[in-house]
Amino acid sequence: MRHLPVTANERVLVGYGTADDAGVYKVRDDLALVQTVDFFTPIVDDPFDFGRIAAANALSDVYAMGGVPISALNIAAFPIETLDIRILERILEGGATVAAQAGAAILGGHTIKDSEPKYGMAVLGTIDPQRIVTNANARPGDILVLTKPLGTGVLATALKREVIDEATIQEAVAWMVTLNDKASSAMLAAHAHAATDVTGYGLLGHAAEMARASGVALHIDAAGVPMMPRVMELIERDVVPGGSKENAALHAEFTSFSARVSDAMRIALSDAQTSGGLLISLAPENLEILRRGLSGTLARCQVVGEVREGAGITVTCSQ
Ligand code: CO
Ligand code: CO
Repeated sequence: MRHLPVTANERVLVGYGTADDAGVYKVRDDLALVQTVDFFTPIVDDPFDFGRIAAANALSDVYAMGGVPISALNIAAFPIETLDIRILERILEGGATVAAQAGAAILGGHTIKDSEPKYGMAVLGTIDPQRIVTNANARPGDILVLTKPLGTGVLATALKREVIDEATIQEAVAWMVTLNDKASSAMLAAHAHAATDVTGYGLLGHAAEMARASGVALHIDAAGVPMMPRVMELIERDVVPGGSKENAALHAEFTSFSARVSDAMRIALSDAQTSGGLLISLAPENLEILRRGLSGTLARCQVVGEVREGAGITVTCSQ
């Protein structure tokens, strides 16, 4: 996308120029549309769970902008000649369950024949043009909050390599099917300056996009970053997805780590997430409002760092 010309259009409030979560298009002064699409190959064996995870993941980019999803289209690929069609039905049922939870109507979709199953959604949401939470407005003095623990990439790889069983990954599944809807409304109430969801580029990758787009430096305290159970142990046994290793190598170029940050932690902070939490930048005095908005939900309100003047990412470990 970087090499595509950016067409000037005053109705495009957020385009692809800032590597944000979703595009935003102004319809009227009081109404804009949020659009996003995501799909991928199964990361768990259960087709219903896969459908739920893929839908929650696709919806997340609307929530990360502060929008409300209204409708969605299914996108699927399926080896119809070699796999039972019932599996595709279960995937779509999972997606429909989560879309219903989000209040988004599924309007249709498209499936192609392919050797490997793939599923996701194109999601449409609405947003008040005055209240768009981009990744480009983090301010020095802000604190950074993360709403879900990290580790889904490592755990999915452990499952694929049969190092752990499907029961062990249930907590990760529970996180991945959890919508970022409550986190989104809580961040709006707390007047968040910036937000993004943590997905394929890992915490450091998405933090770097926020730092770049906002023209600030982000400081992360690894001791405050929540991890799913068994993740650090699995990384130490080199159960790490290729994508997370690539992320870590790339992230090392713009991240300065204190000596106290272990090699395993460096990988964990770059682990590619599916349907991860929101990374929210907000004024410290509004943390209590965010906390109240998240209480009674599964979402965490974990302070993981702060925004500073400058550029790039620094990581320490206070423990
Ligand atoms: Co995103
Ligand atoms: Co996205």
